[in-house]
This record gives sequence, C-alpha cells and structure tokens, in this order.
Amino acid sequence: MDLQPTETLPGSTVPKTHEEVEQLSAYAVAISNRDYLLNQHCASTQVDHSDLFGKARAYSNVIHTLRKTGVMQYGVPIESKPGPTVTMEFFGEKRTMIMFASNDYLNLSTDPRVHAAIDKTVREYGVGAGSSRVGTGFSYLHKELEEKLAASFGKEAAILFPTGFDAVAAPAMTLIRPEDRAVIDGSSHACILEGAHLSGATVRVFAHNNPERLEDTLRRSREKFPQSGILVMIEGAYSMDGDVAKLPEIVAICKKYNARLLVDEAHSIGVHGKQGHGVVEHFGLASEVDLIAGTFSKSLGATGGFVAADRDIITYLNFMSRKIMFSAALPPILVAGVSAALEIMESDSSLRERLWENVNYLARGMKQIGANVLGTDTASVPVLIANDGVMFKFTQDLIQEGIFTFPAVYPTVPKDRSTFRLAVQSQHKREDLDHTIEVFSRLLKKYRIASIPTNH
Ligand SMILES: Cc1ncc(COP(=O)(O)O)c(C=O)c1O
Repeated sequence: MDLQPTETLPGSTVPKTHEEVEQLSAYAVAISNRDYLLNQHCASTQVDHSDLFGKARAYSNVIHTLRKTGVMQYGVPIESKPGPTVTMEFFGEKRTMIMFASNDYLNLSTDPRVHAAIDKTVREYGVGAGSSRVGTGFSYLHKELEEKLAASFGKEAAILFPTGFDAVAAPAMTLIRPEDRAVIDGSSHACILEGAHLSGATVRVFAHNNPERLEDTLRRSREKFPQSGILVMIEGAYSMDGDVAKLPEIVAICKKYNARLLVDEAHSIGVHGKQGHGVVEHFGLASEVDLIAGTFSKSLGATGGFVAADRDIITYLNFMSRKIMFSAALPPILVAGVSAALEIMESDSSLRERLWENVNYLARGMKQIGANVLGTDTASVPVLIANDGVMFKFTQDLIQEGIFTFPAVYPTVPKDRSTFRLAVQSQHKREDLDHTIEVFSRLLKKYRIASIPTNH
C-alpha cells in the first residue's frame, strides 16, 4: 500500500483507530525526508522562510506530535547499561527490551577488562585531552594506539580522529580538489556522501557493490578527465544490505584506472578477518588498499576513529585536515579503553565466534518464516519490508513485544526499500532470538508482507 500523508498532521492525542495510526505513520515516513519538510510541509503550514527558524519550529511540532502519540520512537533514553537487553520507557511504563539497534557487536563496551584500563588511565591522565592532536592533546597513549593500529591494519602509519564520521570524511575533504572526482557506492553512509560533496569535486555514484558499474564510471571519468585525481570510497561491510564489498575486483579496477581506494571498515572491524581487522584483512589486501578508515564506536564499544595509510599520507592528513587541527584529540581514557578493546578483539576469537553463531541462527530462523533477509554476510540481519506505510506501526508492535529496532525508511534506504536492520550482539540469548523470530512471523502475516519461499 502506497500511503500518502494527509495535507495536515492528524490530531495530537493517542491515535485510537487503525486509520489514525496509519496516517501518523505515513507522516513519520514523509517527514524524515528533508525535501518533503522544506517543500510540502512548510507550504501547508505556511512557514515564513524569512525567519531561518520557521522550518525548525514546523518540524519540531510534527516530531512532538509523533512522539506524544507513540508513533515515532527515536531518541528514547536507555535506563540501564548497554547490552543485549536494556530497560526503556514506552507507553508510560518501563520495559525490558531485546536490543537490536546497537552496534556494540562484541559487547566490549561493558567488558570489565576495558573498564579496568579506563579506571587506571583516568587517575594518571585525567579525562580530556585539553587540545587538538597537533597541539598538546597528543600523549604517549595516543602515539602507542596509532602505532598499534598501523601494525594491526597492515599500513605504515595511522592517525586518530575525534569520530569515525570524521575519519571517513576527512581524507576526501583534504585530498580531493574540485577538478578531481569522487566515486562512491550507491549504498554509502552519510559520512562518505559528506566527504565526497564537501570536497567540491564532481561526485559519481555507482550501483551498489557492482564492479562492472564501477569500471564503467571510472572508464568514462578517465576518458573525459585524464589529468584528474580519483578517489573511490566504499564500505567493507554494508550492514543495511547484509553484504561485504567485492574487494578483489574493486581493487583491480581502481588500479587499472589509477584511482585511489578508501575502505570504511566501520561495520567490519571485530566482525570480519582472522583477527577482526575487517574485510581488507579477510581478503588479505592491506597493501593494495590505499586508505583504511575505521570507527571505534561499533565493535570496539567506544567512540572515535582512525585512518591507516602510507606515512606521507598520514602526515598530510595531520596538518591539512581541519578535523584534526581544530578539534580536541580523543580523551586519553577513551584511547586506553580502545587499546584494551582492540587487544581483546584480536586475542579472543570466541567473541566473534559467538556473534556469528547468533547472526547465522537469527538469519536462518527469519528465512524459515519467509522473511526477506537481504544478506547474511554482516553482523546485522536486514529484513526487507518494502512497504513504507507499515514501518512505524510494525515498530510499535515490536516494542509491545519487547523488541527494539529502528525502522529504516527513505532517505536512509531507497524509496520502498524500508528495512528492519537487526544488529546482533555476541551476548544475545537464544531464547531472545527465538522470541524475535516468532514475533516477526506473526507481524509479517498481520501486515501481509509477502513471504519468500525458502528451502532452508
Ligand atoms: C558505515 C559507517 N561509517 C562511519 C560511521 C561513523 O562512525 P561514528 O558513529 O563512530 O562517527 C558509521 C556510523 O554509523 C557508519 O555506519
């Protein structure tokens, strides 16, 4: 069913009828799209664009109503420590929820060994870095972690960034000039888009994980602009699609057309590769990939990011990236926590094995009930619903059943490719996975989501 939101936002009391929930859900999907907000919604609510705040107030009104009516569940605070189950308040009561929206895949955020390293460091180094990396925010702890990352990820040098987002966007913003080309995968995360667009260069997008389309794009770019630099940016693992990059083919094509390659290992660190270093390690291609970027906010359970590359490139990033020059370095306590988490990730493969047992169990169960599982090669099980109109209602039903995940709708995913991305953790319990499969089985029938024949 292709629901269109009504001209104006439906009432602000708790919706009683199925139709009211449907209308509000349709509005929640529509308003997630900035174009809809700026055009249709602002026009229908007669926003005065001479005041920059007009659109923000119009938007806030909608979000307030969607929250009040329980239709939109983004940003609900968690009242317990992170983990496979958490306490959250919904519909006026505290509930235990099975958490499928956290990327703490290996549960290292709550590992006592990581906490011990942080406890020790807070007494020796304090909390904040006090300045940027090129200022006085660089300690022996930072230096050791950068050297460790370079060695682990098979490159000459590495540099820390305040966030994973910065680590991915900064190389594009510093290396690419407006006369160059940024070539990116169609399923790219916002940080790849931001880096590519803020570089000022022409951006070309190729069909997701399709080496032939990449080759077409590079061939055309090289024919037209033989003197331009080209940076291809991809992710190692695409958690919303459930697949990993076809790296051997992509590396060969980049070399053929003299393009540099950046791989964002955000969702593959801790998950892929013999020691958890990601998809580049999995394929043994560290020396062939020019820039490896990663985040500490997923499997390493903290925050921050890094780039590993040739020493000259790291030196250039250090002094040319505003994200490094003009932003405080990572707090020493986080550096200590990340170093401890990295060591556990590399030496204790049982965490990764348990994660994969859970991923395979959930994916198999979902396929058996006829769910359309997009791919099974990442730590998330993406279940395609392909019906924007039911996503927020479906989410409410999941919450009632004690299951928490976000509805991914356009523009996070392409139109009519709405998906529930179930991010799995190594500590998820079998009975919780069984409950989730059983609930999805009922809800897929309730919302008449086409079932996929399966031989599993
Ligand atoms: C593919 C990808 N790259 C980069 C990032 C940014 O990482 P961080 O949240 O650590 O800044 C994310 C975060 O969601 C991501 O999914």
